[in-house]
Amino acid sequence: MAQFNIGPGLKNAIETYQLPENLMGFGNTMAPVMATCTYENGKWGEVTYLPYGPITMYPTAKVLHYAQEIFEGMKAYRVNGMGPYIFRPEENFLRFNRSAERMAMPHVPQDIFMQSVFDIVAYSANFVPRRSGESLYLRPFMYAAEESLGIKPAEKFVFMVIASPSASYFSGGSGLSVYIERENARAFPGGTGYAKAGGNYAAGLAAAIKTKQMGFVQTLWLDAIHKKYIEEMSGMNVFVVVNNELLTSKTGDTILDGITRKSIITLARDLGYTVHERNIDIDELLVDIKAGKCTEAFACGTAAIITPINYFGDISGDRFPLHYPDGKISTELREKLLAIQEGRAPDKYKWITPVEPKSV
Ligand code: COI
Repeated sequence: MAQFNIGPGLKNAIETYQLPENLMGFGNTMAPVMATCTYENGKWGEVTYLPYGPITMYPTAKVLHYAQEIFEGMKAYRVNGMGPYIFRPEENFLRFNRSAERMAMPHVPQDIFMQSVFDIVAYSANFVPRRSGESLYLRPFMYAAEESLGIKPAEKFVFMVIASPSASYFSGGSGLSVYIERENARAFPGGTGYAKAGGNYAAGLAAAIKTKQMGFVQTLWLDAIHKKYIEEMSGMNVFVVVNNELLTSKTGDTILDGITRKSIITLARDLGYTVHERNIDIDELLVDIKAGKCTEAFACGTAAIITPINYFGDISGDRFPLHYPDGKISTELREKLLAIQEGRAPDKYKWITPVEPKSV
């Protein structure tokens, strides 16, 4: 069984922390506590809870050169005086270790992953934002800490959990504009696209610059081979509504197996919608938007929740506006999902787990 320790200064850090009234969007405000645990000589050590702060590493730490790093995104909610609740943490745990396998990293044992996440929420219970749509965003991650420039899998790793009291990922509320990236690819068959590895996100950043220069907010990736089928949007999955049926790309080794995505599929089917998981040809989709058959589209992910897409566009300069830019089915699904996540609706799927607040 793993050991869990309180490090110096944590009590004071938590007792003197003030949650800002305005959260400055997503991921900019940090909770005062973090968990850290080192893997060395083939085994995991003790977990220590420390005040949130800088970490030290040698310039030769392999993560800085060879990008051996993975992460997860999870949320805790505390709305209407209920909670904190964590949403589907065991799914994040399983996906974390699938990413670890792909990136030649050790599995993090379930007790270390789960208890670190739950303790970070328990110590931060007073800092979980209370407004609907806001949450404590949790970021478990692991990096290769071995000090050597040799290109071989590391043997020393650090697992950490940090947390950010966060408002919505997208501010403004006017829907997303999405740029269809027809040149570069994010992932390819046999690659790492399905893993939540930092390098996958870095690979999307040049396109993010182009996307912004073209006046859009998000990049939509197509498959690397045919440049034809919709994959995902770097930090989130995508759904479209065609003839009142929901379509989303089938996941495989190039697309992240989103937990919000799979929750939406379950919810939508229960609400009576037909949901297809299959290849979506981008050019057929644009024809369907013009013909009024595709009426809405939305992004989904832990951070994004469900965010309607306003219009698609590409290098040609053409714009393809959706009939329901503020969502219709997506608004219904967002409300149903958030109500479960925030504990406002019966949890018939057993998706949320309460956390007992703790003091140091
Ligand atoms: C999440 O939704 O948790 C993600 O990991 C997306 C992120 C890159 C903000």
